[in-house]
Amino acid sequence: MTDSAGQARPQGTCRACGGTVMQFLELGRQPLSDRFLSQPEIHQEYFFHLAVGACERCTMVQLMHEVPREQMFHEDYPYYSSGSAAMQKHFVDTARHLLGTEAAGPDPFVVEIGCNDGVMLRTVHEAGVRHLGFEPSGKVAKAARANGVRVRGDFFEESTAREVRASDGPADVVFAANTICHIPDLDSVLQGVDALLGPDGVFVFEDPYLGDILAKTSFDQIYDEHFFLFSARSVRALAASFGFELVDVERLPVHGGEVRYTLAREGTRRPADRVAALIAEEDVGEVATLARLDRFAGDVRRVRDDLRALLERLKVEGRRVVAYGATAKSATVTNFCGIGPDLVSCVYDTTPAKQGRLTPGTHIPVRSADGFSADSADYALLFAWNHADEIMAKEQAFRQAGGAWILYVPQVHVRG
Ligand code: SAH
Ligand code: TYD
Ligand code: ZN
Repeated sequence: MTDSAGQARPQGTCRACGGTVMQFLELGRQPLSDRFLSQPEIHQEYFFHLAVGACERCTMVQLMHEVPREQMFHEDYPYYSSGSAAMQKHFVDTARHLLGTEAAGPDPFVVEIGCNDGVMLRTVHEAGVRHLGFEPSGKVAKAARANGVRVRGDFFEESTAREVRASDGPADVVFAANTICHIPDLDSVLQGVDALLGPDGVFVFEDPYLGDILAKTSFDQIYDEHFFLFSARSVRALAASFGFELVDVERLPVHGGEVRYTLAREGTRRPADRVAALIAEEDVGEVATLARLDRFAGDVRRVRDDLRALLERLKVEGRRVVAYGATAKSATVTNFCGIGPDLVSCVYDTTPAKQGRLTPGTHIPVRSADGFSADSADYALLFAWNHADEIMAKEQAFRQAGGAWILYVPQVHVRG
């Protein structure tokens, strides 16, 4: 059986249900997306094979090959969640919402998986509510502790969850943002949640939504850390196989479109009508079909060809092109499209841990965003397109000076 590029369709085993995974998109040899390199490190990069498939049985969309978690999440993991003012606000609002609902009883206990620099738990801490963040990446965990957040520097898994249950008692809420999709071993996560959560507790997690990724051709959401691309249908199936039920879904505008899923123990809550409504919408959009995913793969290759053609034309015309936002997502774009320092001179970014280093695989220099306005580039390729409003608002001088933004979501276009 061949895929949309006419290649034999490789198969794998589903990490959610054990069914057969059919590959639909091949993105080639890729580096670790968050490994920004010093010059000597460019000779010892870790590469893996990035390809995506969908399970025939439970529809879960997932990577065909797994990167060991210690390669990605370690002392120097450079992603700081508080780097965006809009995301800070999103997580203050999220914390207040949890504190006003699921964590509103006497002496509630809130656990977060992947608390990063404390962007969400900080507000829980300030409210004086018992909490614990799991965060295996050393420096970001340290930043959370500096914000007063109580952090356990381990991966969340069944064994560590059981230890917390024994020492701290049951949790009212287990929350995670942009983390559950990072964990191939979902068995261990769900068993850990089962062990830790009280009888009426909820497991709430939000991650990039497959429906939005297909609608926007945002293939840069596919990289080593994003092992799963969830949909309401695949999450409902996952929940059911661990004695949980998907009781609510909420679409979120952050990071290009996400869904917040709420799981409760089976039979404890009546599922909101919007669960069935979102699954019906997915059925109409054929989100879970191989035919739709094959069409997406064709769209992805078209965006790659268009973006390369534009950058090559600008190079011939002698224009200066830079990029903005050294995102993990951009590793997929630059490596899949073959965009190196010959096409994009440098990437501007606010993260000190990325500045002065080179982008993974393609070795484009990363510079402090403070230098962007003095650069007088003709074009800026917006890798952090999910933060477009925030970035364009603070970099208005760029367009006033005649600069133009290049975007590739939902298709390649220039905003002058
Ligand atoms: N919640 C934050 C951070 C997302 S980045 C936000 O939404 O912005 C994902 C984080 O999860 C990283 O900080 C990483 O170190 C952490 N992580 C990865 N695997 C984990 C696991 N098994 N348990 C707990 N945290 C994990
Ligand atoms: P983000 O898109 O949040 O995530 P990922 O790395 O998972 O794709 O990353 C945003 C990057 O853009 C991060 O390195 C910080 C940077 N950034 C800026 O340089 N300026 C800004 O105004 C914002 C909001 C982000
Ligand atoms: Zn499956």
